[in-house]
Amino acid sequence: MSAEPIRKARAGDVAAMRETINAYAREDRMLERSDEFLFENLRDFSVAEVGGAFAGCCALHVLTPDLAEIRSLAVPHAFEGRGFGRRLLQACIVEARELGLRRVFALTLVPDFFSKCGFTVTSLAHLSEKSAAECPICPKRFACDEVALVLHLDGSKPLPLAANEPVGYTRLFLHMEPRS
Ligand SMILES: CC(C)(COP(=O)(O)OP(=O)(O)OC[C@H]1O[C@@H](n2cnc3c(N)ncnc32)[C@H](O)[C@@H]1OP(=O)(O)O)[C@@H](O)C(=O)NCCC(=O)NCCS
Repeated sequence: MSAEPIRKARAGDVAAMRETINAYAREDRMLERSDEFLFENLRDFSVAEVGGAFAGCCALHVLTPDLAEIRSLAVPHAFEGRGFGRRLLQACIVEARELGLRRVFALTLVPDFFSKCGFTVTSLAHLSEKSAAECPICPKRFACDEVALVLHLDGSKPLPLAANEPVGYTRLFLHMEPRS
């Protein structure tokens, strides 16, 4: 076992990535990902590996010259609560800095995890690059109650969520309650 369990993903990781992500997707906790998606986006992914076992994955997907999204962060049940989620997220943040980006965001059902990792709850309305381009074609656009969180890599303070401002694409942009 290496001292640093986080590394870039390889083709041989895709089966474990798909199984872990899609097990959580079946519980409606994250978006399902196909093999096609995972191979096409393989270079976005970092994985955690412990003693040869897959211990989680996380992707950094660049959207604009200034902004990237954290996607598909998933730690198998057997490895939860051991710091792998935080370390995978941290590896993606380091990568974002190296790429010269200024902001990293996530859309998530576990906002408290991201808050603990330094992100600020914000409105998806402040992330127009995502809400205008990708959300309208997302399979969950009528069922989205995900919370947007953002981290400014230059240390500046993001605009927080306004009092009583709705969260999730469905409430915010379609003005309806998310349906299951
Ligand atoms: C959310 C998830 C990635 C966390 O991974 P993990 O390896 O268990 O998390 P860590 O051990 O690194 O936890 C880091 C901190 O976050 C906290 N934390 C972990 N999961 C949390 C949650 N669901 N809600 C609030 N806090 C959480 C931990 O208690 C720890 O806090 P501490 O530093 O005060 O002790 C993992 O539970 C998971 O894969 N969940 C299902 C998929 C999912 O929701 N992914 C996010 C999609 S955007």
